[in-house]
Amino acid sequence: MEIELIKFEVKGGDRGSLISLEENKNIPFDIKRVYYIFDTRPGVRRGFHAHKNLQQVLICVSGGCKIMLDDGKEKKEVELFSSANGLLLNSCIWREMFDFSPDCVLMVLASDYYNEEDYIRNYQDFIEYIK
Ligand code: TYD
Repeated sequence: MEIELIKFEVKGGDRGSLISLEENKNIPFDIKRVYYIFDTRPGVRRGFHAHKNLQQVLICVSGGCKIMLDDGKEKKEVELFSSANGLLLNSCIWREMFDFSPDCVLMVLASDYYNEEDYIRNYQDFIEYIK
């Protein structure tokens, strides 16, 4: 499994920084939805699902967290701590997010609207699905 980190160009200078995200340019899909995860309680692990079709880019716009990715064959851990990096997550990857800093705001850009039918929330079902 390859970890696909997108490095965003940081614009700005003396006055501060700015990053611009554009669909089908530095974000490799149509952006249909944006959501963000914040105020995660200490020690909490979130996620615990895979998607059948959805593509996502995860960006810690503040603070940091760790993400465990599992394609059914191998598991990898990624640490996100820079708002200048996005983690591209294609479909059929089981993910768990943990070690959120208190100030962490994890922003997610998604290729489709919220659809519970696209979720696989049981790990055994995930293993069966990817076979
Ligand atoms: P969930 O996927 O369980 O996230 P977590 O485990 O990190 O808390 O989602 C929590 C709730 O939010 C669930 O009821 C579904 C809802 N939800 C939406 O309504 N829209 C969305 O875009 C997302 C991601 C979740």
